[in-house]
Amino acid sequence: MANDKQKRILTGDRPTGKLHLGHYVGTLKNRVKLQHEYDTFLIIADVQALTTNFDRPEKIANDVKQVAKDYLAVGIDPEITTILIQSMIPEIAELTIYYSMMVTVNQLKHNPTIKSESAQYGYNDITYGFLGYPVSQAADITFCKAHLVPVGSDQLPHVEQTRRIARKFNQMYAPVFPEPEALVGDFPRLVGIDGENKMSKSLNNAIFLSDTFEEVNKKLMETKTDPARIRKDDPGHPEICTVYEYHKAFNIEEVPEIEESCKAGSIGCVSCKKNLAGKVNELLEPMRERRAKYDNNEKLVEEVLINGTNKAREIAGETMKEVREAMHLNYFSFQG
Ligand code: TRP
Repeated sequence: MANDKQKRILTGDRPTGKLHLGHYVGTLKNRVKLQHEYDTFLIIADVQALTTNFDRPEKIANDVKQVAKDYLAVGIDPEITTILIQSMIPEIAELTIYYSMMVTVNQLKHNPTIKSESAQYGYNDITYGFLGYPVSQAADITFCKAHLVPVGSDQLPHVEQTRRIARKFNQMYAPVFPEPEALVGDFPRLVGIDGENKMSKSLNNAIFLSDTFEEVNKKLMETKTDPARIRKDDPGHPEICTVYEYHKAFNIEEVPEIEESCKAGSIGCVSCKKNLAGKVNELLEPMRERRAKYDNNEKLVEEVLINGTNKAREIAGETMKEVREAMHLNYFSFQG
């Protein structure tokens, strides 16, 4: 069991659909490992998902469960890790308001992830809520005084923004918060099966953690390889091959051998892909088994979310007491 003296992790995801292999090597693998070393909190950031889905909120409820199941399937242990729903912790909203006074509009406008996401969504006049989500993310990270934030590389500007806010708060009022560090996984930018873009649900180039054995095989058979290899014994160029990229991520032991035989033209792309599909399915099989348990009993997922959210709320309440005191907002002694 986690004890109180352990350092904390807070990280999480927007509930906008299924998690995929890019999430796995970018951050989930780290989270599964580190949950045994840190008191770990995973936030399902439904309010943040609203910033881009406020016109269809009904979609989010389903995705909250989907992300929770992906966490449990990948090996997050609800006995030691706290999984919580952002909108159910009102203290996060409260903290966001206080923090919003410590951040300038220009800092937010220059945040590279905000810029690229607004371009991607085709926004030219962004909402206050979308512009400000890094401030709310700072509240996510600090409500439990997290030390470490394992994330994909696109999240680095947000962790940096959080550090600035924590530093400013500590200097201006009282030393309440640690300055959290980011931690990026071994493959911060896994390419999609199109071989062109980062793996992403919206680009239709993802292999999902919940894909079946057949889906994985099919998707890997469609994955781009070196276009110069027309016949099986043409010499290959692994450095430009997506399948080779995936071997590095999911089959590291065989990489030297694969590189050599690809360059020599002694293995064909099809057998190279079959080998890879075997490895990916080996990784996903235990996840499928764990997922089946939760698919068969949705109540279990609900319980995990209720327990995690309740625990997080208690901690958030404690932190808010300190925040209010530091900010001279604790007017009456009876105040909770
Ligand atoms: N912005 C993250 C994403 O898009 C999700 C997120 C919300 C998050 N709050 C967080 C990540 C706090 C790390 C820490 O996936």
